[in-house]
Amino acid sequence: MSIAAAAPPVAVIVLAAGKGTRMKSDLHKVLHPIAGRPMLLHLLASAATLAPAKTVVVVGAGREQVEAAVAPLGAETAHQAEQLGTGHAVIQAEESLTGFAGDVLILYGDVPLVSAATMQAMLERLHAADAPPVVVLGFRPADPGAYGRVIVTPGTDRVERIVEFKDASPAERAETLCNSGLMAARGRDLFALLKRLGNDNAAGEYYLTDVVALAGGAAAIEVDAAEVAGVNSRAELAGVEASWQQVRRAQAMADGASLVAPETVWFSHDTVLGRDVIVEPNVVFGPGVTVADGVTIHAFSHLEGATVATGAEVGPYARLRPGAVLEAKAKVGNFVEVKKARLGAGAKANHLSYIGDADVGARANIGAGTITCNYDGFFKYRTVIGQGAFVGSNSALVAPVTIGAGAIVGAGSVVVREVADDSLALARGRQEERPGWAARFRAAMKAKKDGK
Ligand code: UD1
Ligand code: CA
Repeated sequence: MSIAAAAPPVAVIVLAAGKGTRMKSDLHKVLHPIAGRPMLLHLLASAATLAPAKTVVVVGAGREQVEAAVAPLGAETAHQAEQLGTGHAVIQAEESLTGFAGDVLILYGDVPLVSAATMQAMLERLHAADAPPVVVLGFRPADPGAYGRVIVTPGTDRVERIVEFKDASPAERAETLCNSGLMAARGRDLFALLKRLGNDNAAGEYYLTDVVALAGGAAAIEVDAAEVAGVNSRAELAGVEASWQQVRRAQAMADGASLVAPETVWFSHDTVLGRDVIVEPNVVFGPGVTVADGVTIHAFSHLEGATVATGAEVGPYARLRPGAVLEAKAKVGNFVEVKKARLGAGAKANHLSYIGDADVGARANIGAGTITCNYDGFFKYRTVIGQGAFVGSNSALVAPVTIGAGAIVGAGSVVVREVADDSLALARGRQEERPGWAARFRAAMKAKKDGK
């Protein structure tokens, strides 16, 4: 029989009231995307794995944007009208947590890559045998810079206090364990401690970090610096994007995809890759891409909102836009753009085409340079191509139009009317031939030039 008590409920508080001035942006800092998704939503997705009873995002400047982004996720917001410090920010969430008696996990909206496992470890540490009142998350960056320093009892994980850089003595500044800012505590203790905070310090702020000394200590957990990297500038945003991509590439390979040059492949937060997928260099996955087993994506292809079935081939230099569906063993070659279109099993569009708002039957062959003319400047129309049809090169299919199964369209045709199954459609200027004309023309022109 297990004697372990059930884990207490968890509330997550995310601090996001800071202005983010250094981003120089009209978009709130925590909404800048990483792998195509706002950084705050990465963090909330990780936090959601803890099944929190409540999630409260503390907002300030630009709060309308943040409120709109988190409302669909069922997170609440609390307004911090003035940024009086991290401790003051957490107090703003108290009202939302009225009656809540569980653990509280404090996260920063601009520290987006903290893993669910780390969050879980912090909560578990809180309930270890020695039951520390607070758990803080520390890290050792290459350059400790202006981070708050976590002062531990030597040789233990017992935190005595956290000292802000501005307030630290030279000896304290020489400490290398830095405060990520993340914290776990029991909710009731936390809010009682927060009421005792003062702001008599170098910044004149209510420091969340002071609850450690007020509580009589804390336990520290240490993580890799990359996991708690914060975003304050565009350069740091790019750095966090880079480390997210690095982790995702490693995951893709561990899951059975071959990335020929991993550092040149860019994933989105929701990219799904099967096994035995080969991804050549310089491929970009925008949001909403699902790739089945055994697909090859050749170099320099860009995919977004696309579904690619088993054994299909894409690129090199292909562009799959939202709504592109390639069925098994379909092929989309170089300089082919596919949008809102299905290519049936084994269908091919190998060269220089635009296939938009179309349905292409199994095994159909779309010749080089074929364009589905889907737009008249006002409305979009569909092109339907039956299975096994053959569309000759450089054809313009003026939608709405249907090419029947097994039909052949002569190269260079402009097709404006339905082509029946198994018909041949020729819609181009007729070839005229004048035997010997070219030779006579050359002789006459030469004589004229020579003045004869
Ligand atoms: C804080 C920590 C410091 C730690 C550092 C890590 C305190 C007192 N200091 O520094 O020990 O090394 O984070 O980056 O906690 N925020 C609000 N309201 C406020 C103030 C801040 O919501 O009134 C939010 C910010 O939007 C940000 C986070 O809290 O997401 C941290 O604020 P920031 O000013 O960057 O942290 P520091 O106080 O410098
Ligand atoms: Ca900061």
